[in-house]
Amino acid sequence: MAILHRDVHLDGAPPSAPAFPSDHSSASALTRRSLLRGGAALAAATLSSLPPVARAAGRVPFGAAMQSDLMQSDPAYRQAFLDHCDLILPMNELKWDALRPSREEFSFWGADQIIDLARANGRRSRGHCFVWWNALPDWVEAIDTGLEAERVLVDHIEQVAGRYAGTLTSWDVANEVIANDPTGEPMRDTFWMRRLGIDHIAIAFRAAAAADPHARLVLNDYDLEFTGPEHDAKRAVMMDLVRRLQDHNLRVDAVGLQGHLYAEQRVDVDAVAAFGRELQRLGVGLLVTELDVIDWKIRGGPAEQDAAAGRVIGDLMDAVFAAQRPEAVITWGITDRYTWIPDAMPRPDGTPSRPLPLDARLRPKPWFERLQRRLRTAL
Ligand code: XIL
Repeated sequence: MAILHRDVHLDGAPPSAPAFPSDHSSASALTRRSLLRGGAALAAATLSSLPPVARAAGRVPFGAAMQSDLMQSDPAYRQAFLDHCDLILPMNELKWDALRPSREEFSFWGADQIIDLARANGRRSRGHCFVWWNALPDWVEAIDTGLEAERVLVDHIEQVAGRYAGTLTSWDVANEVIANDPTGEPMRDTFWMRRLGIDHIAIAFRAAAAADPHARLVLNDYDLEFTGPEHDAKRAVMMDLVRRLQDHNLRVDAVGLQGHLYAEQRVDVDAVAAFGRELQRLGVGLLVTELDVIDWKIRGGPAEQDAAAGRVIGDLMDAVFAAQRPEAVITWGITDRYTWIPDAMPRPDGTPSRPLPLDARLRPKPWFERLQRRLRTAL
């Protein structure tokens, strides 16, 4: 049954209006304080539901995104996740185009393969994602009224979050809603923005909280990690979105830093740490959701690529840990054998990209061993 949430408005302004003036009254601060208390209770509940191994060890969970077709076709790939991960999640199988071949049908097979594998082996899993500009089936894009778009979005979240309620630790409720370059218009131009304006984010968080009250609800985005005005703007817009959701009494539990790291760029350690501390003041956690390294501009061979990857990942970890203990660190795949990076950003000399923790022969990179040690020994 679809529930319409016309009372939930992130911003009364139409989507084209200059968004996010930052007037936060003391009344809204009070609202946030009451939310913080709720968040702390929820965090305690979440901790007690951790698998015994991770809880006893007290480590920050390491996870990786898996693809169900590869899990079937490559036993060594499947085993690599079991060898290295506390958390195993579907990379593409919970996206709209995978789940919803038509409006009437749901196809949970691929997602179930991975989530069942995780659960059967005492590992955690998480959901990615509800609101995204990409991976929308044609039948969704053909919806031409806001009312219908809202009905379909809420129904989708009720059905999908509801089906997995209690089994997933968290959901990326909104993914990549901020503009690619947010120094101009802050929000990305998407189907959901065009039909519902910025309210679609609140609608999605409200529906997800109702459908799976125990899952941590995450706002996830990329390019939050680096130095430069676009990255400063992205962090500022993200912070404003979090505040606005809280001011409307909506629970946002964590921000996901995707962590698609350009090996030649500089992580802004101070700015990311300040961002993470500000989130913590609002009772909002931090996690790394899609870590991999884009090494197309790194000259030399595997040794130089891995050294550059180690540097940029080390900097990101320094920034995150300086702010707060991350809820998880998750890589976008586990082995260089299968990765989207060379398709999107190939190395100009045609040599293999090395974005992931294990090389194409499933041997751990030195930076992965350092990362695992750091997560294991985190206080
Ligand atoms: C990518 C997958 O890795 C590919 O297999 C798929 O073809 C396209 O999507 N940001 C995200 C992810 O949030 O969902 C994207 O995943 C990578 C960028």
